[in-house]
Amino acid sequence: MSLQEPILRVQDVRFRYDPEQPKYAVDGVSLNIKRGEFVAVLGANGCGKSTLAKHFNAILLPEAGTVLVEGMDTRNEDHLYDVRQKVGMVFQNPDNQIVATIVEEDVAFAPENLGVPPEEIRTRIDEAMKLAGIYEKRDAAPYKLSGGQKQRVAIAGVIAMRPDCLVLDESTAMLDPHGRAQVMNTIHQLRAAGITIVSITHYMEEAAQADRVLVMSRGRIVMEGTPEQVFSQTEKLHSYHLDVPQAAELRDALVKVGIPMPENVITPERCAEELYKLLQ
Ligand SMILES: Nc1ncnc2c1ncn2[C@@H]1O[C@H](COP(=O)(O)OP(=O)(O)OP(=O)(O)O)[C@@H](O)[C@H]1O
Ligand SMILES: [Mg+2]
Repeated sequence: MSLQEPILRVQDVRFRYDPEQPKYAVDGVSLNIKRGEFVAVLGANGCGKSTLAKHFNAILLPEAGTVLVEGMDTRNEDHLYDVRQKVGMVFQNPDNQIVATIVEEDVAFAPENLGVPPEEIRTRIDEAMKLAGIYEKRDAAPYKLSGGQKQRVAIAGVIAMRPDCLVLDESTAMLDPHGRAQVMNTIHQLRAAGITIVSITHYMEEAAQADRVLVMSRGRIVMEGTPEQVFSQTEKLHSYHLDVPQAAELRDALVKVGIPMPENVITPERCAEELYKLLQ
């Protein structure tokens, strides 16, 4: 398989929880995720983000269309182990994902259960805990950790399986700003290590840090582009019940009262830069 082959290839996927009902939770989605990319997925409550994400590692199988993980069809049961190993999932609530009473035992849980040789487990869990920024807490009891630390333990547990792609489904939603910043920091570390990231989030500031943003509405992808492209379309985003990052909101407010600001201002740093230019 060539390196150019997308890690995830989703073609015309449709899915209903109840085949008796006409409503599709995912209603015709096609997308490719490239190797090493960091993609953020946005969309109002109930638009189908989690349902789509669960198709990425065969937790759900499409009713129509196909999902290919590194060329492997998720519907092929022979590939299930490989698909789950290649695409790891992290969910919202770290308490539901932590099973052991000591951090490093928790991180070792999945590789131990999936038959990774014991001599390799030590290397893997140390590597995973370091990447997730939780190595210093390896002997701690998870219940004593902060939300952000717990979520990084959960991430380390998935990383210990050495996935090529990590899907985070609102994994910062229950965290305070400090915890969110810690998890975002970990995401950037994982990316630097070559892991592909798909992050579902309700925080526009987080999406602004991605390479690409997908916006969903009613089971479909309705916007797609770089954060700069997507977040310069304030009105359209509002029509999907989404906000823009605060920096973009400030830019819009300034433009409205006649102060010139470029469209690609979506981070506090860029906003400060432009304001500084204006003040000079
Ligand atoms: N297990 C389920 N059984 C039946 N219907 C479901 C189930 N999970 C989700 N749905 C429905 O499918 C649709 C899409 O839900 P989904 O959870 O994928 O949305 P979401 O974009 O992740 O929302 P949120 O932002 O609230 O997490 C919604 O109408 C939801 O009510
Ligand atoms: Mg969801």
